[in-house]
Amino acid sequence: MLTTAPRGTKDILPQEIENWRYVEAAMRRICAQFGYKEIRTPVFEHTELFKRGIGDTTDVVEKEMYTFTDRGERSITLRPENTASAVRAFCEHKMYAEPAPTKLYYIGPMFRYDRPQAGRYRQFHQFGIEALGVDSPAIDAEAILLAVTILKELGLKDLHLKINSVGCPNCRPQHRAKLQDYFRPHLEGMCSDCKSRFERNPLRLLDCKVPHDHEIAAGAPSLEECLCEECREHFEGVKKLLTAAGVDFEVDNTLVRGLDYYTKTAFEIQYVPLGAQSAVCGGGRYDGLVKEIGGQDVSGIGFAMGMERILLALESQNLLPEHKDGIDAFIVCPNQDNLEAAFKTAIALRQAGLKTEFDFLARSMKAQMKQAGRLNAKFAVIFGDDELARGAVTLKNMAESTQTEIPVDDIVTILQTEVQKYE
Ligand code: HAM
Repeated sequence: MLTTAPRGTKDILPQEIENWRYVEAAMRRICAQFGYKEIRTPVFEHTELFKRGIGDTTDVVEKEMYTFTDRGERSITLRPENTASAVRAFCEHKMYAEPAPTKLYYIGPMFRYDRPQAGRYRQFHQFGIEALGVDSPAIDAEAILLAVTILKELGLKDLHLKINSVGCPNCRPQHRAKLQDYFRPHLEGMCSDCKSRFERNPLRLLDCKVPHDHEIAAGAPSLEECLCEECREHFEGVKKLLTAAGVDFEVDNTLVRGLDYYTKTAFEIQYVPLGAQSAVCGGGRYDGLVKEIGGQDVSGIGFAMGMERILLALESQNLLPEHKDGIDAFIVCPNQDNLEAAFKTAIALRQAGLKTEFDFLARSMKAQMKQAGRLNAKFAVIFGDDELARGAVTLKNMAESTQTEIPVDDIVTILQTEVQKYE
């Protein structure tokens, strides 16, 4: 147990890190093109922020939060997502005083006590964006375009973008009443979650995964029929701009996202070959959230992508570039009497910017040469007794298997020149 990570978590090993960096670099680059700036918020917040922000009746808040009381008797929760925290930071640092929009992005770990399976973890990582302070559908379309641009730039095809409008506080009560009228006669046979949500949040009944309930939900009245003029116009605006940008999408009136803060636009991008956990990106507009957590009446839109799912998708399609690991020089020093000279040379080479390693285990000459090969060294610098007696070392070009003797004093300058030939 002590040598196993907790269920639903995993180590990201050195050989995987380059893949993460590659994906993150694409995200950062494209965010810069779209004018988004990075924010890093704490991994834990006051529990109340998520209860108020995400909603008491959501699975995330009801069942999935890592909540504990700290030594100061405060209820603290490891963030299950970053939107509420970003909005909290927006209020706390009075970002609304700057000209709108405030465009933020983040990359970091999130925590949900979910049932672990491929593509679903208890600690997972999200890349996400939030744009605050703009009501225009243009910012919705831009946010969706940003998500699509990132996924396409990484090479993913077969992406399926679904969009919907989930309405606003003006039109939702009408839909809510219609939903309750529809579900009431079926409620007896539905699951306990549906029963408890029937009064509190009947929209969530559309989203139930229990097959029997799901079938009933399929016949429920659509929100589209109830949308108010403003929501309808907004949705039309988003669709028009997406079409103008050449983005393919499907309108899915059953798309209800699992977090309560959404208003108007909701969207999801699926990478279908991933199967059960195919949602690689989800987001939408949240016009009431800033006010809900105590800020001003400022609108917002954003999305988040699951980093692990994107990496799984890229891996399955062989879309991750090959990373050539290697070092510039390995110092081979079979005689421990020469260790100090070898050590100093390693320091000098590193100070000159060269990736340098040497042997720590007093291995034999042969074993040290083997280690130089394993580390993919461009050169081996051999501290042999005979050469050292002449004030020289042997420089071996590992790829070409050629070697020359060079003066000890010139090691740094010669290696700098030689290594440059390979760049
Ligand atoms: P979400 O749909 O809960 O939205 O999560 C967004 C994405 O995070 C999912 O599409 C999925 O790729 C990934 N994800 C979620 N849970 C897990 C998990 N247990 N394991 C692995 N990946 C997971 C949000 O979190 C909203 N904050 C998005 C947003 C931003 N809406 C507006 N702004």
